[in-house]
Order: sequence, then structure tokens, then C-alpha cells
Amino acid sequence: MGDDWAEVIREALERLSGLPRHEDGVLGSMTTSPEPVTASLFQRFMFVNANDPWLFPAVSELEKEAVAMLGEVLGCQGCSGMITSGGTEANIAALYLAREAGYDRVYATAAAHDSIRKAARLLRMEYVEVPMEDFKMDPEALEKVMSERGEGVVVATVGTTGVGTVDPVEAITEVAAENGSVIHVDAAYGGFIYPPLHGWSGLGFGNDAVVSATIDPHKFGAPIPAGGLVVKSREWLSPLVFEARYMPSGKQLGLLGTRPGASVVATWALLKALGRKGIVERAARLMGMARWVYGRLVAAGVPVAAEPEVPIVCVKTRREGVLIDALRGMGLYLYRCGVVKGVRAVMMPHVTYTHLTRLVNALTAFLSP
Ligand SMILES: Cc1ncc(COP(=O)(O)O)c(C=O)c1O
Repeated sequence: MGDDWAEVIREALERLSGLPRHEDGVLGSMTTSPEPVTASLFQRFMFVNANDPWLFPAVSELEKEAVAMLGEVLGCQGCSGMITSGGTEANIAALYLAREAGYDRVYATAAAHDSIRKAARLLRMEYVEVPMEDFKMDPEALEKVMSERGEGVVVATVGTTGVGTVDPVEAITEVAAENGSVIHVDAAYGGFIYPPLHGWSGLGFGNDAVVSATIDPHKFGAPIPAGGLVVKSREWLSPLVFEARYMPSGKQLGLLGTRPGASVVATWALLKALGRKGIVERAARLMGMARWVYGRLVAAGVPVAAEPEVPIVCVKTRREGVLIDALRGMGLYLYRCGVVKGVRAVMMPHVTYTHLTRLVNALTAFLSP
């Protein structure tokens, strides 16, 4: 400690110089290089605390507008919510809100993101696993297990992290509504892809049982950290308003204290610039890539876990570690599917067909019969 700035910069750059850039071949992570304009706005507003509307009222306005745009993406007019640090925080907050409303049991499948189990554990909620069919929640199984265990909050995933499937939200909401339960939709990754490509209302926010959703701007081109929690009403959100006695407003929103206002500005800018047209174009491009990869792999006899409904492709192999290491040696960074033994590729905005051609060739060489 105590080095001069020039030395500190030199050391930091030297130590970080070996990191892969997304453009080099990061094909399995859900992170991406941010849109340059959002990154530069992020840098300019790094001093802003989104939880201080007294000092930075314009940022609170931008947050309301950003949340309204996220709501629009999910087919929800007049929704409320907040910008979070990511999907994990949004999911924890959503399940906390459900618990505060009296639902202290969580229903989810094995393909739900790990943050759902994390939230249930932190909040000491009962966690009930619902059986799946083809990596999607089985509504009949939900009905059965719910009639045995009782009401709760059901997590429907729009874009499972490991295999890219979408739970049947409409059928699930029917079961939930009939059983006095509510739905949280985890569309952290799929929110920008599935609703825009399926008429903008595919999540069932029109159904009273859907109370909240997660959708992450940092999975679609905003800088990290940027997640989104969208809730049906201001009233549903109110347990997330906590006392903060020293703040001029006397309160703070969400699980954090000081919150990155730069994330709000960057998210607002991304949505404002992309608009519906830009979102649909990007979603279609990424989905087209996933279909292309899926088609090539299936034709080559490579075992794919599920036909992707959002741009995630999971190839099954028992030797995931060996394959991941081998691909890494070729400059291709793939991740595990998690819910099943296999290796996952995620189409993020930085991914190109050049990357994908390399990927398909490598996977075919390793895994085709
Ligand atoms: C469906 C889903 N939910 C939640 C998350 C958690 O998001 P984050 O890593 O931003 O906390 C992810 C991340 O992969 C996800 O795929």
C-alpha cells in the first residue's frame, strides 16, 4: 500500500492483461461487453446513489422510466419496480415480497436458477421442487404437489439458465390462481428475448396470479451491475421500502443501502436507444444463432439437451470438465449446463457466426458419434 498512482495503474493493467475479452470467444457466460454509450454514461454517473432521491432526483425519475420500459418489454403497463444489481438480487427481493404477502413456500423446478434456492434459504422459506417434462415445469405435477403442500409462490422461468427452455407460464398461472398461489417470473435472461419474439405479452402479466418478474439489462448490453425487478403494483413493492433514519427522505428502496445510480442511467439509456425495434432485432439475431447452432449439432449427431426457446444451447456429455478445458485451450470459453451433465453456450450480443462456426466444429469433433 502507499504506491504512487502510476505504479498502481501499471500493476493493475499488468495483472489484468491476461484476461480474455468477450470478443475473443467467451461463449458460455451470460456477461457481455456493454454497449459503448451505456459504458460511458455509467462512468460519468458513478458518483450517483440511486437510493438518494433527495440529492439525485433526476436519477429516480430515470429509474421510474427504466422500470416502465422493462415492464413494457414484459407486457405489463403501469408496473412498478426497481433496478437491482442483477438477477440474484431481484429474485431474492421478489421472493421476500411474496413472503411478506403471506406466501412462505417456494415452488420451482430443478432448472430454476440457483438464486431461487439461495433466496428460499436466506428467507427461510420452504422449497418445493416441481417435476419437469423436457426441462419445463409440468403444470399437472404442480397441481398435484400444490394440492398436497398448500399455497405458495411459484417461480416460472422464462429462459432456463442451463438449457434455454421456457416454463409454460400461462398453464402455471392457471394452476396457481386456482390454488390461491402467486407467480414470480424469472426472465432474467429470457425477458429480452422471449416476449419480444412472441408478441410482448407471453408472460401472463395480464393474469392476476403473476405478481413480479426479473429481467436483467446486464444480460442484454448494459454494464454490470444492472438487473431489474418488475412488480405488478406499488403496493406489492412496499415491503421493500425500508427505514433509513439518516437519509433526508427517511427511507431506502431494496435490499441494498447505497445503490449504483450509474446502473439506472445505463439501463435507461440502453432501453431508450434500442426501443422495441432494436430489442426485437437483437433478440431475433441471437435466437437465429441458437437455432443455427442447434440445427448443425443435431445434424452432426451431437446430443443436445433441449431445443432452445431462448438462445442457450446445452450439449450433453458426462465429461464436462474435460471438454470445458479442451475448448478453453482452443480459446472457446464454455460453461456447465448445471441441471444436466453437459456444456452450455449462450448467444450474447458480442457473439458472431465466426465464433459459432469454431464452436460447432469443435463440438462435432469431440462429441459426434
Ligand atoms: C434465469 C436466471 N435467473 C437469475 C440469474 C442470476 O443473475 P445474476 O447473475 O445477474 O445475479 C441468472 C443468471 O444466470 C439466470 O439465468
